[in-house]
Amino acid sequence: MFDLLIKEAYLPDGRGPVNIAIKDGKIAAIGQNTPDNAAEIIDAKGQLVSPPFVDPHFHMDATLSLGLPRLNQSGTLLEGIALWGELKPMLTVEAVVERALRYCDLAVSQGLLSIRSHVDVSTAPLTGVEALLEVRKTVAPYIDLQLVAFPQDGLFRAEGAEENLMRALDMGVDVVGGIPHFERTMEDGARSVKRLCEIAADRGLRVDLHCDESDDPMSRHVETLAAETTRLGLGGRVVASHVSAMHSYDNYYASKLIPLIAESGMHVVPNPLINITLQGRSDTYPRRRGLTRVQELRAAEVNVAFGQDCTMDPWYPLGSADMLEVAHMGVHAVPMTSREAMEWAFHSVTMGGAAAMGLPDPTLREGGPANMLLLQARDPIEAVRLKATRLAVIRGGKVLSRTAPRIAQLSLEGRPDSVNPADYAPPQNT
Ligand code: FE2
Repeated sequence: MFDLLIKEAYLPDGRGPVNIAIKDGKIAAIGQNTPDNAAEIIDAKGQLVSPPFVDPHFHMDATLSLGLPRLNQSGTLLEGIALWGELKPMLTVEAVVERALRYCDLAVSQGLLSIRSHVDVSTAPLTGVEALLEVRKTVAPYIDLQLVAFPQDGLFRAEGAEENLMRALDMGVDVVGGIPHFERTMEDGARSVKRLCEIAADRGLRVDLHCDESDDPMSRHVETLAAETTRLGLGGRVVASHVSAMHSYDNYYASKLIPLIAESGMHVVPNPLINITLQGRSDTYPRRRGLTRVQELRAAEVNVAFGQDCTMDPWYPLGSADMLEVAHMGVHAVPMTSREAMEWAFHSVTMGGAAAMGLPDPTLREGGPANMLLLQARDPIEAVRLKATRLAVIRGGKVLSRTAPRIAQLSLEGRPDSVNPADYAPPQNT
């Protein structure tokens, strides 16, 4: 007797229809002839069952603070950082915990069950660190939450930032963060990359730097990060986040840099919702998109994973913990509309994010954890197109959240009664 059986599901690799049998929090069987005896049966009706979504780049200490103490008028990264600096002294542990937990509830409903969040450590007291360590503990039964010690105001630019960062790591923050393009000079930026990588190497930790989140074609810290990653043998433990300036590099330099990134084994995490809105603000026209070179990095076999970055905070007024919205924006902003690339965009917010965070491969397989989503879509591309409804969110074999399918009831003479967006099948064999 199984605890849960999902019938007639399709998998992200196209296999199906299959039944997925779950027992004791694990996938007991995936196949066509699974016995039907289960305490609960969910009929997937030919829809997609996938691993849960992963967000490898977020700021949970700032989330849902939109409008506190005022709105970002210019829409730039720099005004966002200044605004956050105004809000920081007003933060309390209780308020940050409350907003973060509210966000985590939304995340679960969206099937987002692994999140890497940066937490500002540039100034004492470490309110955000204290709050998010508590949140990490509270949500542990349903969200894998990794924390990055992030010196938002610069490791060297903000007085005491290095001491605060070390203290945050001592308190249990998981990953070493940084922001080299915000240091006072290029030299300070490069020095901060070296120092942060050495701290991580000494402590056996991972590294995740906001790297070249800038329209400056001379912002070239990712080359230092690649070199340090190679020098210290940090390989798959390093993430370069944003890397927006690569959009503005000349093609020759990019053609030299990308093989160095690939050689280092670093992951790259662009954040399409944020970089399409923050970058290019000082341009007139043509206006740069500011997204890194996703297709070229992929061609060099670099793991690229889209992140969300923000939801309703000093940098971004929208957002809804929806990693399909992130993938959808990535498809547009890169742009990349081949079927191969759109399918990849889906995998980027599941498998790609898990690899960037150093989590186990989440592919659904027998003996693996019963963590999965039932989506109102037939396949990964349709899931991206529709930002598919999360019909069921399952972790450890338990249904954590259900959402009713999106079906409109029509009142049109001579037309059908209802419209289900997932009934519009894509062309076959294209
Ligand atoms: Fe960020």
